[in-house]
Amino acid sequence: MPRRSPPLETEPAGGGSVRPRRLRRLASLRDLVAETGLTPRQLVAPLFVGERPSEAPEGLPALGRRDVAGTVREVERLRDRGVRAVLLFGVPRHKDPLGRGAWDPNGPVPRAIRAIKGQLPETTVLADVCLCEYTDHGHCGVVSGGSVDNDATLPLLGRAARTYAEAGADLVAPSAMMDHQVAAVRRALDAGGHPGIGILAYGAKFASSFYGPFREAAQSSPAFGDRRGYQMDGRNPTEALRELRLDAEEGADLLMVKPALPYLDVIAAARVQFDRPIAAYQVSGEYAMIKAAAARGWVDEASAVRESLGAIRRAGATVILSYFASELGPELPGGVG
Ligand code: PBG
Repeated sequence: MPRRSPPLETEPAGGGSVRPRRLRRLASLRDLVAETGLTPRQLVAPLFVGERPSEAPEGLPALGRRDVAGTVREVERLRDRGVRAVLLFGVPRHKDPLGRGAWDPNGPVPRAIRAIKGQLPETTVLADVCLCEYTDHGHCGVVSGGSVDNDATLPLLGRAARTYAEAGADLVAPSAMMDHQVAAVRRALDAGGHPGIGILAYGAKFASSFYGPFREAAQSSPAFGDRRGYQMDGRNPTEALRELRLDAEEGADLLMVKPALPYLDVIAAARVQFDRPIAAYQVSGEYAMIKAAAARGWVDEASAVRESLGAIRRAGATVILSYFASELGPELPGGVG
């Protein structure tokens, strides 16, 4: 969190020495004066739900796909470790140009939401709202004339959000980066009788090289072109604040920055600028980098996870979406960071 610099420290008035190390002598003393921390209650675990389970890419266990029953078992396992929120992504059997599967009430995501809410109703269930997992071309909206048609996509996102709310989702998370998607989703939820269902807006979602493993897992790589026509340009921190402000004005309940570690400056600026909880998404490529380095013995996995999640908290995120939420060891409930 950005703060004013303290006045220059001089020697204590009564003489003696300034020694910051006095507060670092014992673990209990370091914990006592720690300014930030993290508990599993502040984490959201992203989960992939499909018709059939599939193997995770090698070395990346959190990117495997489960069927509905397997998803419920995973939510229960997470609950036992203190993680009580999940974000669901669907991998449908059929894809088409409009992404119709996104609002199929019998698709994997609505079925998983109903099953989770039936068996573990205290779980906070978030549903990602986007078309890229459901379109045959892999773009996040309707394609016409070679580009993604913003306004034709909005009602479809609204329809998908309403389907997830009807199934029992607690929050919907529009991630397509269409202009006015938050307003469209808010209107659809209100019109559908779901004024109490909140929106986690992917406000500042950057076009990033760190989404690669996710696209493998969700089979959502664009068949042509890339997403730079709708996702944000990483060079623009001021524009990121504008995107977040627009989403706040359109009714977002939480504002998200994504990816996390490469955009800590944006998280820190958002923290001081907005009066809503800030979320950050430690994306698949960030997860994969730590897993790969740890597999080679180049970094110690537990401490690298603690340090990077700690950095995201320190920057100002209240909520962190992370694949490591599924891999917490028994040491985490004491807090990381
Ligand atoms: C798109 C979406 C993406 C991610 C979350 N939602 C991928 C993309 O924009 O291509 C990426 C998350 C990750 O990499 O972990 N709906």
